[in-house]
Formats: sequence, structure tokens, C-alpha cells
Amino acid sequence: MPARRSRAPRAAPDRTRRFFLGLTGASGHPYALALARALLERGHALDVSATAAGLKVLRHECGLDIALDGSDLGARLASALGLEQGDPRLRVFDASAIEAPPSSGTALTGAVILCPCSMGSLARVSAGFSSNLVERAADVALKEGRTLILVVREAPYSAIHLENMLRMARLGAVILPASPGFYHRPRTLEDLVRHVVGKVLDRAGVAHEVSARWSGFAASGPAPEPPDEEGVEPRGRAGR
Ligand SMILES: Cc1cc2nc3c(=O)[nH]c(=O)nc-3n(C[C@H](O)[C@H](O)[C@H](O)COP(=O)(O)O)c2cc1C
Repeated sequence: MPARRSRAPRAAPDRTRRFFLGLTGASGHPYALALARALLERGHALDVSATAAGLKVLRHECGLDIALDGSDLGARLASALGLEQGDPRLRVFDASAIEAPPSSGTALTGAVILCPCSMGSLARVSAGFSSNLVERAADVALKEGRTLILVVREAPYSAIHLENMLRMARLGAVILPASPGFYHRPRTLEDLVRHVVGKVLDRAGVAHEVSARWSGFAASGPAPEPPDEEGVEPRGRAGR
């Protein structure tokens, strides 16, 4: 039988929506924080839940002093995102809270985004496990035909990982690897992060100018000078 084409519906752009952001134990939490900021800055609201592994990797990668049981994740995230404590635009749920609104198809989630998405969560979502709120929210997006974006990250990928991704793509999920491009000539880590975040926002139907859009080689100007043999950037490039 021929593979089914992706049927991920394109979300209607630009009305205020509540997105579900699932944080799992893959590397790449700076993407998640930048994505959360971008959505909030554009007037959207966020439901967030982190797996136990997600909490650990988030703490490590972003330097957030979150309790390992995640009890203060809401407070820490609100500070990191520049929100008042208790701001209703940010709701944080324990991953065990399967009674939380994102667990039901009746809750109209704008899009469900697992960012970053571990190979473990990918496998469980592709098998329909729904063993925590993050997996359940993804399962709900699939069953309701809503946008599900998996910002997967691992290197290298095994055949199991690739098969799970293919299965999810055929079911309509967007497999959006945390693999920033270099054709926009990034100068900083933030440029790299923004490139991936821009791609996620595009697939979530959120208008943005977070990342530059490609307009051809000519528009990019001359290539930057390569670093010298010791890896030191030429002086003329400072401040660009
Ligand atoms: C620092 C760190 C980085 C990790 N990076 C990845 C990764 O990039 N991709 C991945 O699939 N797993 C990664 N893992 C392993 C996952 O955290 C682990 O498989 C975990 O069980 C995933 O659980 P979850 O899917 O419930 O979040 C990492 C673990 C640690 C401690």
C-alpha cells in the first residue's frame, strides 16, 4: 500500500491560541525556552508539561534551579520567560496529571509541540502508550487530527528511531529535527536556535520574524572570511 500523505492540518494563523509544549529528556531545551518566549510575545498562551528526564535536562542545559520533582517548574519557567507569577497565559502541569485539560480532545489546543522530543517519547507516542501527560497530549493531537510537531533530537539515529519517525510522519505528525541550517550564516548560538524556532512557528501557523527567510545567494552578500589556522576570527568580522 502506498504511504499515506501527511495530513497535518495547517493551523489558522494569528488568533490567540493555547499551545501545548511538552519538554522531554532530549538535548535542546534552549529551543524550548526560545519557542515559549516567541509564542508568548505573539500573544499566545502555553500549557507546559515536562517528563522526569525533561526536567533534569532542562535544569542542566538552561541552568534553571528547578526541584527534581518539578514542583516549582511553573515558578521557574515564569521567571525565565519574564512573566508575573501566576500569569494565566502559562499553565504548568505535572506529567502525571492525566486529568489536566490537554489530556482531552475537548480542550482545543492550538498545536501540540514536543520540544525537544527524545527517542523514548517518540517511541512511546508512536506506539500509543500515553503513559504521561506529554505522551497523552501528543496522542490527542493525533486522534483529533490536530497539528503535532516533534522536535526530535538524537545523533546518530538508529533504524528504530527512523522507523518511529516515519510512522509518525505517515500518521500526520511533523518531524522537525533540531538541526539548524548554516545557509543564513549564523553568528551566535541564538541565531542557530532562532532558525529552528522559526521553522516550528511556521508549522504551528504562527506569523513571525524570528528567523530570516532565504532570499537567494546574491542577497546574502560575500561569504565571511574563514577563521585563521588557530580558529581565531579575522578582526574585520567583530560586531557583525
Ligand atoms: C544530558 C542528557 C542529554 C540527553 N540527550 C538526549 C537526546 O538528545 N535524545 C534522546 O533521545 N535522549 C537523550 N537523553 C536520554 C533521555 O533523557 C532518556 O532516554 C530518557 O529516558 C527520555 O525520557 P522521556 O522520553 O520520558 O523524556 C539525554 C539524557 C541526558 C541526561
